[in-house]
Amino acid sequence: MSHTHAHVEIRREDYTPPDYLIETVELRFELDAETTLVSSRLALHANPDRVGRAPELRLDGEELKLISLQLDGVELAPERYRVEEKHLVIPDPPERFILEAVTEISPARNTALSGLYVSGPMLCTQCEAEGFRRITYFLDRPDVMAVYRVTLVAPKSKAPVLLANGNRIETGELPDGRHYATWLDPFKKPSYLFAVVAGDLVALNDRFTTMSGRKINLELYVEQKNLGKCDHAMASLKRAMRWDEEKFGREYDLDTYMIVAVDDFNMGAMENKGLNVFNSRYVLASPETATDDDYQAIEEVIGHEYFHNWTGNRITCRDWFQLSLKEGLTIYRDQEFSADMQSRPVKRITDVRLLRSSQFAEDAGPLAHPVRPDAYLEINNFYSMTVYHKGGEVIRMLATLLGPDGFRKGMDLYFERHDGQAVRVDEFVQAMADAGGRDLGQFMRWYDQAGTPVLTVTDHYDAATRSYQLIVEQSCPATPNQPEKKPFHLPLAMGLLDRQGRELPLRLSGETGGDSRSRVLELREAQETFTFTGVPEKPVPSLLRNYSAPVKLRYDYTEEELVLLMTHDSDPFVRWEAGQVRAGQVILDLVADRQQGRGMALEDSFVAAFRTLLTDAKQDRAFLAEALTLPAESYLAEQMEVIDPDAIFEAREFVRATLGTRLAAEFQQTRAACAPSGPYRPDDGLSGCRRLRNLCLSYLMAPGSQPAIDAAFGQFRSADNMTDSIGALMPLAGCDCPERGEALRMFYEKWKGDRGVVDKWFTLQATSRLPGTLSEVIALLDHPDFEFTNPNRVRSLVGAFSQSNQVRFHDASGAGYRFLADQILKLNTINPQIAARMVTPFSRWRRFDAKRQEMMKKELERILAEPGLAKDVYEIAAKSV
Ligand code: ARG
Ligand code: ZN
Repeated sequence: MSHTHAHVEIRREDYTPPDYLIETVELRFELDAETTLVSSRLALHANPDRVGRAPELRLDGEELKLISLQLDGVELAPERYRVEEKHLVIPDPPERFILEAVTEISPARNTALSGLYVSGPMLCTQCEAEGFRRITYFLDRPDVMAVYRVTLVAPKSKAPVLLANGNRIETGELPDGRHYATWLDPFKKPSYLFAVVAGDLVALNDRFTTMSGRKINLELYVEQKNLGKCDHAMASLKRAMRWDEEKFGREYDLDTYMIVAVDDFNMGAMENKGLNVFNSRYVLASPETATDDDYQAIEEVIGHEYFHNWTGNRITCRDWFQLSLKEGLTIYRDQEFSADMQSRPVKRITDVRLLRSSQFAEDAGPLAHPVRPDAYLEINNFYSMTVYHKGGEVIRMLATLLGPDGFRKGMDLYFERHDGQAVRVDEFVQAMADAGGRDLGQFMRWYDQAGTPVLTVTDHYDAATRSYQLIVEQSCPATPNQPEKKPFHLPLAMGLLDRQGRELPLRLSGETGGDSRSRVLELREAQETFTFTGVPEKPVPSLLRNYSAPVKLRYDYTEEELVLLMTHDSDPFVRWEAGQVRAGQVILDLVADRQQGRGMALEDSFVAAFRTLLTDAKQDRAFLAEALTLPAESYLAEQMEVIDPDAIFEAREFVRATLGTRLAAEFQQTRAACAPSGPYRPDDGLSGCRRLRNLCLSYLMAPGSQPAIDAAFGQFRSADNMTDSIGALMPLAGCDCPERGEALRMFYEKWKGDRGVVDKWFTLQATSRLPGTLSEVIALLDHPDFEFTNPNRVRSLVGAFSQSNQVRFHDASGAGYRFLADQILKLNTINPQIAARMVTPFSRWRRFDAKRQEMMKKELERILAEPGLAKDVYEIAAKSV
């Protein structure tokens, strides 16, 4: 490790309680984009629970200019404190004292978008995880909780709106056209939940009456031009508030709930107490500019941040290793909310798809970490698929193991015991164990062991005794620092079908009665055998219903068995999964054919099964669209020993084109049957229809025939909503035809004033599978609308190309790799968090052939050789290489 990379590793086992606590915080901001003055007044005292005597006070602080410092009202002499690069140290303070500091910061120069920064017409903050220390000196850790009183001062013309957490208790005018507002948040909170916003904003106002009859003001702040795009977010908020009352008995606790939409934001949104700050893409929507997926994502993220008020804010994390305590739990809550608002099976399928394409890949590579990590250099790198989405699956398993009532009791007990505290994952699981009367000791391994477990299932039927054995083995591959794994405690939901597809009763040997058709087996050992009795014939097992555990399932199904499950199983997830497994087999066989120079041919039986499904009028359309979507290239890649991106792409395209040709009539028919009637409404219950119709179009476009191109272009021109516009433009963007350029030009001309839509325009081009895509992407870096300082824009071009265009990013020339490394180095100085996120595609280098391995490693080494590499980027690159 070279000197410039001597970053300190923070380890979970090194946790000690804070030496000092802060009871109250008073802040005064003299706001100005160039130079903001922050005056703080902290009431500190030595922590009675500290380890040993409190020798010195070490406050966190980064990029701060200290202007003045007073202790108990007296200017502190220079020999009584020191300013280090990342700390302010007071060697010998009293037991209890008031510390007053004035610091100077520059929001305009803050391109890292952490702390106080400028976004469009406003100043706003992002403090999670460690941004508060970029505002003032503080004990910037979640187990230091205080009551905040905040005064904002700004020129009224520039910032008519001044917002902070809690309640506005005073406002007034000042000389020189300035004004001020004072806010008090009565709830103790950690610094990461602090927020202020100041700017030229307007609000959409609404009201919500809670279950106990309290009236809450709902305020959604946006730039004037976006006021017409807020209705869906507001409606989603009200649904989320009602849902948390009904499902978890949780009521909102302040008198006002504010949401602010900002264009420049590192992540999705932030749950600051009473004042959520959102990436504008998760707020703004109109039928013309937002797709059905966008509408859905808004509802989900609005719900997520709202649910944090109880799971995150009222009960927060003791330290950042416990991040999944709030994030896994809140992901589970937002998934359940969305499932209740729409089709539950389709929601589950979407969530599983995401988990298996992104989290499984993370868990299988050098960045694998437990849901509760053991160590980090930069905590922002651990806002990961594992902490969030695997963490959500872990909560879901608890809910499955305890049942709905047990889980609800556990949640109630958790809130009852820990409201107002900063706790660990252990406290949560203990509440579940106590409420359910269960031992969850072994279950804790889900938090401590990384890697995706593999369940290998075999079976044996004995006709003489009419008994059926299911033999389940579990194993988990080695991950960094964890060579050996112990068995997990997990729920395996299952059923048994006879050869007509009827469900059989599930009676385990030794049980009497018991006539259930679906049950949850609990696994605890490396190998276990379950013997079912009274089984009249060799059944087909329906395994992992509703995807009851985040594992890879291995069972050797025949083609007939998969078709039986696809058409008959009572569990929609298993029906969908059977089709995916079958399609995966077909495509991977074709990959092998292509690699060995054999011609590709699609089995008739596959086409026939696909036709049956496509023409089954009884099927729910949203579900059908999922069932007819082939496994993603990235998911297929996961299943190969050595990933061959070209062969995967070509085999998958071959299947799509063959289906598009052989089932053209059926696709046209289904598409016509789903034709829109009347104008688009986002909540018209027709989103499944639109999805299916657009899927049909993409199959018809796959062989690239002129009638299909005409149909797509026709839909593109006549669409009255963004879903259908994108549904047509996406296949056009992947088609080597004159209509492509024309449609993309028309789209840009129409939407060049709308940031969100222009992001889509960049992404459409970045994800086109046409061979010239990389050159187009490089050219787009110079487009007047491209900016390195806006995270959404970077993600829409650089992120989309490197993470969602496997075949072009992994171009055999290595040009895609060079391109990405160049952009990472540029972003390193602008926004380290975003730069670090861009490194992940390189972390998969071991999965590719020797030549690609070599080239990717070279780029990683080039990144690591950069002087002044941010620790965010360093951590991901160093672990990857
Ligand atoms: N707590 C936020 C959420 O999940 C995420 C904010 C994380 N931001 C960051 N820079 N790490 O809703
Ligand atoms: Zn969250």
